[in-house]
Amino acid sequence: MIVHVITLFPDLIEAFAASSIMGRASEKGLLKVKAWHLRDFADDKHKTVDDTPYGGGAGIVLKPDVLYKAVSEVKKQIREEKSANVPVVLTSPQGRMFKSEVAKEYAAVHEWIVICGHYGGVDQRFIDACVTDEVSIGDYVLTGGELPAMCMIDAASRFIPGVLGNLESAEKDSFEEDLLGYPLYTKPAVFNGLEPPAALLSGHHAEIEKWRRMKRLEITSLRRPDLLKAADMSEDEIKFVRGLKDKKV
Ligand code: ADE
Repeated sequence: MIVHVITLFPDLIEAFAASSIMGRASEKGLLKVKAWHLRDFADDKHKTVDDTPYGGGAGIVLKPDVLYKAVSEVKKQIREEKSANVPVVLTSPQGRMFKSEVAKEYAAVHEWIVICGHYGGVDQRFIDACVTDEVSIGDYVLTGGELPAMCMIDAASRFIPGVLGNLESAEKDSFEEDLLGYPLYTKPAVFNGLEPPAALLSGHHAEIEKWRRMKRLEITSLRRPDLLKAADMSEDEIKFVRGLKDKKV
């Protein structure tokens, strides 16, 4: 997966892309994150990338001409026959909500561009002309789009085969099978006088899997009952979940 990030803070994106699992994926050639500095596409001597909004009001708006030039230049670097269909994603609190299934969608796209929104927003004419997808990472407003861009790249990368080792497999993650994750325990065997649940020490694979599945159902039912509507459950599991109604985790 190749992701071109157009940003006013390329250092942030580069540091993220070089660290931890993202860094390892880049070394293995599974991920390439290229940060483009928006200011490099401004043509006046002050390198202006933003201006005041027409109609007045607070905030500063990213200029459409500078953004357009940036996207055009990035597309030139992408092989010609592909560049017409490359997703151009804008991070924005007005966008569609970024969820696990959206991360999977992007993981399946070979190359995409993400524009980090900033300040008051982005000129609508640029959005109408170039942006294929506006994405929000949650119902709160951040000062910039770098964190959302990094969230998207991180979450999408986890679905690329080979990015996670076996130990970190995405299969039993929260949101897989529309359920939250199960509780985890590690050494020491006794902490604060408490031992891990007996099922996990049993050594019986089937018993461990059953305990984990029940815990996922329990936690999801108590914390995110909305997710359960899409989950695939057996008759017994549906009964189990119904019996949990008033319990707290
Ligand atoms: N920019 C500012 N807030 C944002 C959010 N919640 N999601 C995506 N981009 C943003």
